[in-house]
Parts: sequence; C-alpha cells; structure tokens
Amino acid sequence: MKLLIANFKSNKNRHEMQEWTTEFSQVSNQQTGITIVLCPPFPFLPLFEKLHSEHTFVGVQDISSYPAGAYTGAVSTYNLIDFNITYAIIGHSERRRYFHETSIEIAQKVRECLAAKITPIVCVTKDEINATANALSEEERTHCIVAFEPIEHIGTGESDTLEHILETKKWVQTAFGSVPYIYGGSVNPSTDSQILTSTDIDGFLVGSASLDPETFLSLVELVR
Ligand code: PGA
Repeated sequence: MKLLIANFKSNKNRHEMQEWTTEFSQVSNQQTGITIVLCPPFPFLPLFEKLHSEHTFVGVQDISSYPAGAYTGAVSTYNLIDFNITYAIIGHSERRRYFHETSIEIAQKVRECLAAKITPIVCVTKDEINATANALSEEERTHCIVAFEPIEHIGTGESDTLEHILETKKWVQTAFGSVPYIYGGSVNPSTDSQILTSTDIDGFLVGSASLDPETFLSLVELVR
C-alpha cells in the first residue's frame, strides 16, 4: 500500500488547522487502498488524534535526539506517548539547513524513534545518502523508510523526473538495503501521472500540496 505523507511544516494556526481537519474528516472514511500520514506541527497533535483510522496515521516532523530530560525546547519520544504517533520525518533538508543537523544527530533521532516504535522516514538528498546510511547500523537501516528529497525540487512546483527518481532508488537501496523508497519535492495533482502511479515508488512526501485539504485529497485519489 502506498504512503502519502502530509508535511505541514510550520504553516497554519489553530483556527486554520481546525478547518483543515474538519474538511478532511468529512471524507476520511473513504480513503482505502492508501496509507495517509499527517504530520502537523507539535501543538496540533491533539487536534489530529481524532483523524486516526485504519488508513490514516499521525506523525511528527522531527524528534529530539535526546531522551526525556533537561533539554529545553526539545520534544522527546517520551513526550509523545499516548498521542498515537507512528511515524516521524527525520533529517529533512530544512532541518539540516536551518538547524544544522548532521548525519550523526539524525542517526541518534532514528534510534530514539526505533526505541519508541515510531517508524523513521529518513530524508536524504543524493549527496547525503551514504553519510546518512553509514551513521546507522545495518539493523537500524532495515527499519527506515527513506525519502529522496532533491532540494532543487522542493517548493518549486516542479518535481524531479521519473528517470532520476528511479535511478536514485538504486543508490538508496545500495546504501540502506531494500527499504521502502518514497519521493518528495513538489508533488501535486499535476505531477506526471507516471510518477504518481509508479509501482517502483512506495509513496510521496507532500509539502505545499498538503496545505489545502481539497488538493491533498485529490492527490490521494491520483496515487492510490
Ligand atoms: P513541497 O515540499 O511538496 O512543498 O516541495 C516537500 C517536502 O519538503 O517534503
């Protein structure tokens, strides 16, 4: 089953998120044949709990590389107990760029996730594949989902080519083993349908096109 992950990043306030969840919940019971993962900013997790269903899960966009304790401002996996969080986006290029995350720190976050039974969705550009994989043990790698996220296609409205996405899959699976492979970078309803329906891509990480529930739901239809 394909994964469609909504990454809201730091967008939307409480009122706007309420509207999003209301609109989404009106049709959410029709979404069979696809696994949806909704990753809102931390303050909105209680709002998203009610959307949890057989096919819809809630995830986070980042996690602390430290356990519970004296780490001001960080959100640990321990803080998330009882929120029903099953996925975490780890090592997104925006985390690496603006928050200076290294492969070593990202590996530590993956370990925190695995210890808490949260599936890490590890984001990489082509250049980061090997360093990210090498910071993890072979066993840890087998539990990851890897998202190929070329920076030059994030937020530009133009996704990468099918050919390049599939070529990079080989690099990823050489480094990580045969893990689920997803793509992110300007995926929207007008993305090449060969990409959206390719059986060689296990899912998509969606930023901008997740912000409008109608757009996101039409993507659900096109991908499943
Ligand atoms: P985008 O973001 O869909 O807006 O390009 C994707 C991402 O950063 O995961």
